[in-house]
Amino acid sequence: MTARENHSDTPFAARLLRRLDLSEDTALFTVAPEDAALPLLSSFTPGQFVQLSVPGAGEIPISPADLPQKDGTVDLCVRRVGHVTQALHQAPEGARLGLRGPFGTGFPLPEMEGHPVLLLAGGLGIAPLRSLLMHLLRNSDRFGEITLMYGAKQPKLMLFREELAEFAARRGLRLYLTVDFAPQEPCGGFSCAVGLLPDLLRGFSFDAANSYAAVCGPPALYRCLGADLEAAGVAPQRILLSLERRMRCGIGRCCHCALGQKLCCLDGPVFPLSDLKQIPEAL
Ligand SMILES: Cc1cc2nc3c(=O)[nH]c(=O)nc-3n(C[C@H](O)[C@H](O)[C@H](O)COP(=O)(O)OP(=O)(O)OC[C@H]3O[C@@H](n4cnc5c(N)ncnc54)[C@H](O)[C@@H]3O)c2cc1C
Ligand code: FES
Repeated sequence: MTARENHSDTPFAARLLRRLDLSEDTALFTVAPEDAALPLLSSFTPGQFVQLSVPGAGEIPISPADLPQKDGTVDLCVRRVGHVTQALHQAPEGARLGLRGPFGTGFPLPEMEGHPVLLLAGGLGIAPLRSLLMHLLRNSDRFGEITLMYGAKQPKLMLFREELAEFAARRGLRLYLTVDFAPQEPCGGFSCAVGLLPDLLRGFSFDAANSYAAVCGPPALYRCLGADLEAAGVAPQRILLSLERRMRCGIGRCCHCALGQKLCCLDGPVFPLSDLKQIPEAL
């Protein structure tokens, strides 16, 4: 089923199975849909999103942090920022939730095969990119070199850092971490630069002409990273940006997420830089 065909506006029932705190305001929630959801979630492609509803609070778009497991459970890494995310963080294990989706475009995995892939994540941007990273690592024989550059404000806000260090040590991931500033505490045993993500990229030598780049982070990052990647020699149609826009329906009906003539929920949230350059307000 393609994203455009999947116009489901009725959430299917799910339960909060467990929760793992990753930082003081961010946790990984494992959500178990009931049986009817399995065929839907099994079509998930990294980069797509689901609409998660918390009864009594509302519904929000979230990009799964990994591909759904065989039993249909899905991991959602969610930062507490407002009404619905706060309600989710307060929900007890076993709480009833709702899920719709998956929606939107994911990363173009077939055309990325055979190429090196550079992932650039700023802050919470690691959450949506993690599902792409997991796919690349599990299928590393089908892709070129896999590199992750990940920047956080400070070491304690760096999510999944033990897991990422493990991937670097055992699964061939080239990993570069940076923090905006490093307070007194050490980086937890991780080799970590101090500076901004674009600084890491500027000192990096790679096969740009052959590479795909996947970027997710705060909006301010996109303009400069997009320009830097292009200047380094990555083709703009291979610079893939995962955009975050306020959404309501998630299925192309309300126009809440309009980006010029495009809708972020249907045509995105993953867009090539070449498309976004045609939309003045996109970046
Ligand atoms: C495609 C997509 C994928 C996403 N994936 C994730 C994810 O994996 N993990 C995660 O934690 N969050 C993700 N988000 C963001 C998440 O949807 C918002 O944080 C959530 O909707 C906030 O809801 P709330 O009711 O808690 O906050 P509200 O009470 O609605 O707002 C709280 C604050 O957050 C701001 N805000 C709310 N929604 C957005 C938004 N979409 N963009 C920018 N600012 C916003 C508001 O302006 C306000 O300042 C994603 C968003 C999109 C569009
Ligand atoms: S969220 Fe309604 S059209 Fe995109």
